[in-house]
Amino acid sequence: MNQDEMKRAAAEAALEYVEPGMIVGIGTGSTANHFIDLLATVKGKIDGTVASSVASEDRLKSHGIPVMDFNTAGELSLYVDGADESTKFLHLIKGGGGALTREKIVAAGSEKFVCIADDTKLVDVLGEFPLPIEVIPMAQSMVAREIVKLGGTPELRTGFTTDNGNIILDVRNMEILNPVEMETTINQIAGVVTVGIFAHRPADVLILGSESGVKVLT
Ligand code: 5RP
Repeated sequence: MNQDEMKRAAAEAALEYVEPGMIVGIGTGSTANHFIDLLATVKGKIDGTVASSVASEDRLKSHGIPVMDFNTAGELSLYVDGADESTKFLHLIKGGGGALTREKIVAAGSEKFVCIADDTKLVDVLGEFPLPIEVIPMAQSMVAREIVKLGGTPELRTGFTTDNGNIILDVRNMEILNPVEMETTINQIAGVVTVGIFAHRPADVLILGSESGVKVLT
């Protein structure tokens, strides 16, 4: 099985969490795209979806899956999304696709967060994947200086603007030993919209596609 097949296998396993009448929160990225394509096969069963990005909204609509406004949807029963890294405690790094802020909002407003990934994403310590931070453009240099003080090496994601009109700093050389504390610290820097650490609201279930089948961590 190649990496993409492992992502699809994880997405297929997540379909089991979809129940009749649910409004399902939908993440962003190649693994979430597999889930969207599979969700199309059971679209008559759900009441609708809430998308975490314009890209996912477009893909959902292309399948004829109804997309609702988060403000009118109420609390969601389920959120399904990928990740760039996860620990066995289900603390995540997300934002490789730049949708971290809306992803964090939808995850926070969902009763259950099912994370889907291939097993290369499972790590002992978060931080090998460059940590994405969404930043208000005028604060770019100041936030970068604060990140250097924390030991990181920030780099502007060139040619990229988030769905919210902001920039992304990707931060290398971060060994995130205490994800909850680091999430708080970075989120408190003025100008930071969201850091891509998901530790205050981790995943509830992690489904990993692997060579030997699908593994589920809770
Ligand atoms: C997007 C994300 C994605 O979930 C993450 O980048 C994983 O992507 P993929 O499923 O393509 O490996 O956080 O902002």
